[in-house]
Parts: sequence; structure tokens; C-alpha cells
Amino acid sequence: MASYSFNTLDPATEARVAELLGQMTLTEKIGQLNQISPLVFTPPDPSQGVDARPTFSMRQDLDDEIRAGRIGSIFNTREASFVNRCQRLAVEGSRLGIPLLVGGDVIHGFRTIFPIPLALAATWDPDLVERTARAAAEEASATGVDWIFAPMVDIARDPRWGRIAEGAGEDVYLGCVMAAAQVRGFQSQGLASGRAVAACPKHFVAYGAAEAGRDYNTVDISERALREIYLPPFKAAFDAGAGSTMSAFNEIAGVPASANPLTLTTILREEWAWPGLVVSDYESVRELIPHGFAADLKDAGRLALSAGVDMDMMGMAYLNHLADLVAEGALPLAAIDEAVRRVLRLKFRLGLFEQPYVDESVAAQVTLTEGQRALALEAAQASLVLLKNQGSLLPLKPGAQRLAVIGPLAESRHDLLGCWSLFGEEGDVESVMDGLRAYLGDTAPAPIAGCPLRGDGDFEAEAAVAAAEAADIVVLVVGEGQDLSGEAHCRTQLGLPGRQQALVDAVAATGKPLVVVLLTGRPLVIPELAEQATALLLAWHGGIRTGRAIADALFGAIAPAGRLTASWPRHQGQIPLYYAHKNTGRPARGAGTGQFVEFFRSAYLDAPNTPLFPFGYGLTYTQFAYRDLALDATTLGPADTLTARVTISNIGERAGVEIVQLYVRDLVGSVTRPVRELKGFARVALEPGESRRVTLTVPVADLAYVGADLQRRVEPGGFELWLGPDALSGLETDFNVMA
Ligand code: NOJ
Repeated sequence: MASYSFNTLDPATEARVAELLGQMTLTEKIGQLNQISPLVFTPPDPSQGVDARPTFSMRQDLDDEIRAGRIGSIFNTREASFVNRCQRLAVEGSRLGIPLLVGGDVIHGFRTIFPIPLALAATWDPDLVERTARAAAEEASATGVDWIFAPMVDIARDPRWGRIAEGAGEDVYLGCVMAAAQVRGFQSQGLASGRAVAACPKHFVAYGAAEAGRDYNTVDISERALREIYLPPFKAAFDAGAGSTMSAFNEIAGVPASANPLTLTTILREEWAWPGLVVSDYESVRELIPHGFAADLKDAGRLALSAGVDMDMMGMAYLNHLADLVAEGALPLAAIDEAVRRVLRLKFRLGLFEQPYVDESVAAQVTLTEGQRALALEAAQASLVLLKNQGSLLPLKPGAQRLAVIGPLAESRHDLLGCWSLFGEEGDVESVMDGLRAYLGDTAPAPIAGCPLRGDGDFEAEAAVAAAEAADIVVLVVGEGQDLSGEAHCRTQLGLPGRQQALVDAVAATGKPLVVVLLTGRPLVIPELAEQATALLLAWHGGIRTGRAIADALFGAIAPAGRLTASWPRHQGQIPLYYAHKNTGRPARGAGTGQFVEFFRSAYLDAPNTPLFPFGYGLTYTQFAYRDLALDATTLGPADTLTARVTISNIGERAGVEIVQLYVRDLVGSVTRPVRELKGFARVALEPGESRRVTLTVPVADLAYVGADLQRRVEPGGFELWLGPDALSGLETDFNVMA
């Protein structure tokens, strides 16, 4: 087990925890369970009753509370000097000198903003993702942050949900791979090194299953779905060494996740024997009241703590009520002690008692360095997904064609930061025009916005059309602004916002070749745009180097090689749409054609079942051919490993990277199985004309699933297997697993 893991208890640490716990008053213990953002802290105003919500405050209140030992953790601070000041109050000013945990929402970079997590996942490169997490840890830890609220590992199958941007997409296997990679990146420098941060995979659990893609909405899923789809990325993150998690806002089948004994106690503590810290989400303990689960804040505190939430983020339920609950015998002191133990354990493992302060000169040296910026460029390049390239329009030759650049995102910097970029700065960002100017210099065309990013405002189609007429090729830079995805940013209409599609229609009518650069925080529903585009490059909200990465791809300095990690629907009515669906008793013929012949089939009358672009999909500037798929053995026992081999050839004219994907289908089970499940992938870089025999292996144990009795096991029987470039294609064979 890696040395940075929290999953094994260290006897020396446990002894220190026990000794300190023995000295603490009940008030001091409860203080450790209280987490506050200094941005919004004020003690409850007595005139509003003891349960008033915290509001904007005076610094003095915070100081007094820290000195009194009534705060165990602060979060979303910015400056090392401020953190040091708070730590000094805690360490030198409070009776027991217990340092603070300093949390932060560092979701895809601290100051150096990398692509949004959905885009990072599209790299299918866990090593690169790990390096971005390490870089974020380096910058954040230099400001005194020691604990970050990431990775977000919620599986998301509904692009209306704005938080799909924050995770790895729709797939369980890929979600596990990316979760583990980020945890390694955050923690593997060694937790007490001062250069790492403790990871906090979130939101425990099933938050991504919010009904209708509306944030914070009801989740009502089976325990099987919970165990099979939503829990595995958390397990992967814990196995990679994560020592904390955040309890989610949503309910799960009637029981809020922040007071859920099944998930927080039975699964987390009893089945997984996980000794980490559970922090609530922002006021999610208080929100047990509007959920209709707790009668009042005191009841909320009792329910959350007894279910297994150790720390109350901004809810004030613990601070205000735990002492009374203990005095009344409604909560055993042992339950408080256990929660405090988990907080102290994390503080000791982070080395905070030895070194609570940061060297204030370090942040400037490690922030936004050339190395960080180069990594941001590498990540932005690798996350680009080429969705269409008719007639090999791309790459362009700099200076060879007259370009028009049109669209409301052409000059934007702010939007490229994406959601949850609290510490990022617009001035650090390269816009698409900045990127183009790096190649074209003074000959770069003046961009024409054409219309606002959203809403009806000025529509300048005439100028755009005139520019298009005068050009050989039009680069259209369209998509979503930064403020349309992320928390509480859900949409029912997933086309281009505002009048952007009308702008595209006007420009497309010129008949000029269109290179569409799409900037977005989520999968969009863009069938017309995809039809109109000659080339379609998906560049997401790609962080500070987005513009340069796009120009590098447009002019062929690099070849896009990213792949989708969430299906792109043809129509909003198809949502939720994901490749690992069940077959049903009446599967559509073929892929569902949207024809009347599909009557009495699981199909639509007016649209095919298939996505516009499937999971795993993405083109590059060359083509690959697959041949000679073979398995080393077609009959395997439960302890065996499946070995599949295939020959991949680069049959185009440029070097390129192929992501070879391995999918299986378990044909008959004690419960029905998805039509395909990703079980492995490999990155293969090939020169033009080069062929390689590629081997992928899958331990048979990884074919286990949650059976009729809710136990995870491998069931014997027949399987189909595909090796291919996406979830809808590939070479096919089969194998058997024996008992
Ligand atoms: C609410 C969000 O759901 C969560 O992801 C975040 O970490 C907390 N707020 C803290 O800002």
C-alpha cells in the first residue's frame, strides 16, 4: 500500500490522537467538527435566534472563534499570509494549540487553470491527469491549503446537469481510473511534505443521478445501481489513498446522503472499513430540514452525526447543538469522540502539528511557472476532441488561406477558465485569437463576434457574412460561456445559447468551408451545427492555454487525440443517454432508426436511439485500421486474466495516437447486464505506415458485478468482447468464464 494512504492506521498517530483527545473539553471537541469559510463567517446573530445562517462578517469574529477552539477547519482562503495568521491564532492562541485544516475548492487547478475535469478525462491519459493534480497541489499547498475538495467522482449521464463538467463523465471504469489518478497526484508527494494536499473525493454519493439533470434534485435509484455505478469511483479513490470524502446534497431513495446510514455507516465504515473523515457539503446538514428529514437544526445535527458525517460545513448544527444532544443522552459522547478522532488523524497525517505554517515566499516561486504553463498547454492540447474533419480540411496551413474568425467566444478569456476556477485569473488566459495571432501575427483577421454569447442582443450577421464571403475558410468560435455549467447551472436547452445557431446558419449559407471550434462545459445537442461544420473541434473550457492549444491543432503543430467520455445526444429527448444501457426485452433493430418499422420496439418514432457522437469517439489527422483480434484463451477461470491482442495500423499520412478501447458484454446474468462495458484501454502512438500488435489484459475478477443478492461476484457464462475506437464499433469475439 502506498505510504500516503489513509487506509491503514498508523499506531504512532493513533496514540497521539488518543492522547490529545483525552485532554479536550466537549466544547473543544465540537469545535473540531465545525468548518467555516472565512469569506462568510459571523457567529449567529442572537437577535435572529441561535440557528441563524452565517453571513458576511468582521475579521474579529473569526479570530475570537478560532482562539476559542470553536473552528476546526476553514476553506477557500487565497493568501498564505492569511492562512498563517489563522494558524497562529489556532496554534498559539487556543488552549490546546490544534492547527486548522485548510480546505479549498481546487477542482482543475489553483492559479494555473487546467481544462475542466470532463475535458481532462477526454485525454484518456491518467498519467497526464495525475500530473495536473500534482501541479494544482503544489500551487495550493504553497498558500497553506492542505486539503482540497476534489476529485469530483460523480458519474454523470445527464448533460443538463451543469456539474457534469466537474467529473470524468458517464463511465464507471474510466471514472475509477481518473479518480485514482487525481488522488495520486494530490497526495503522492507525501502528505506531510508540505507540497501535497489531502484529497476529498466527492460527493458521497449518487449526486450525479439527480432527476431531470436539475442540481440538488431527488435521486431514487436501486441499491444495485448505487453499488455498481455510483460507489466504485469512491472505492477507487480510497484505494488510491484518499482519506476524506464529502457527503452530498441529494437524497438517495428517500434518505438524504448527509444523514444516510446505509452509505455512510454500513458501506463506508462496516463493509469498507474506511477510517477517513466525512465532511458535509455546504450546509447539507442544515438542509436536512427543507428535505423534510429533520425537524430542526438540532435534529439535523443528531441525524447527520449519528449517520457518520464527522464535520459540518457551514451548517452550524454541530456547533450549536451537539453539546445539548450529548447532555440529553440523544448522542453518545463516543460518537463525538470518533468524529474528532477522524479530524485529528487527518491533521496529524498532514504533519500540521509539526509544521502548521507555510513559507510565504514559496507561492510566488511555484505559481504559474513556465513548467505549470507548459503542463496547462499539454493538457489543453490532449483534451481536444476532433469530432468531424470532412475532406481533411484540418490542419490548415498558416498563411495559405484567407481566414475569417467569427463568433462571440473568439476573444473571450474569462470563459475559457470554466466553472470552479476560484483562484484563476482572466489575465492568465490565452483566447482563441491570441492563439491564432501566435501563428498569423499581423495578418490575423480581426474577429467578428456576430452576436452575444447568450440572449438576443446585437445580431451582426451581415458583417459576419461579409467577412465569410471575403475569406477562403471561416473559423467559427461558438459554444457556452463559463457561467452556463458547474454547480446550480443546469439547462433544459442544450443547443448553442442565444442566437449563435442563427449566426452559424447565416455564415453557413455562404457555402464557405466552416471550421467550428466549440467551447463548452458539457455535451451539447448540436445536430445542425455538426451537419453544417466541415470540421468540428471540441475544445471545452480548456483552461489558461486553450487558445494556443486550439491554434496548434488548427495549424497542425499537434494532432487532436482526445475522446469523448460522455455521449453526445442527437436530441434532448434522448437524455439520459449512455452507452452502457441495458438491452431490454424488445431491443431496437440495429441502433433504432427512428422509423415507424420500429413499432413495438424500445425505440423512438422520431429519432434513432444512437447518439450523435458516442462515448469513446474522436478523430485525429490520420486513420487507423484494426485487424486480427485474438484472445490467448477463450475459456477462463475466475482467477485468470483475459488477454486480447489486436493489430493496429496507421494507414494515414501523419503520426497519430489511437485510444484502443476494450468492451465486454456478459450475455446472461442473475441480473441483466449492459450491452457493453468498458474494461480497459491503451494509448498507441504510431508513425504513418506503422503497425503494432497491441495487448490488453483484463483480470476475470474485474468482470464481477453486483448480482441478484447484491453481492459482487463473477458469474460463469458467455461474454462478447470488442476492441475498437469507440463504444459503438470495433472488432468482436467471444469467450467463456467457467465456475
Ligand atoms: C458546494 C459544492 O457542492 C462542493 O462541491 C464544494 O466543495 C463546496 N460547496 C465548498 O465550496
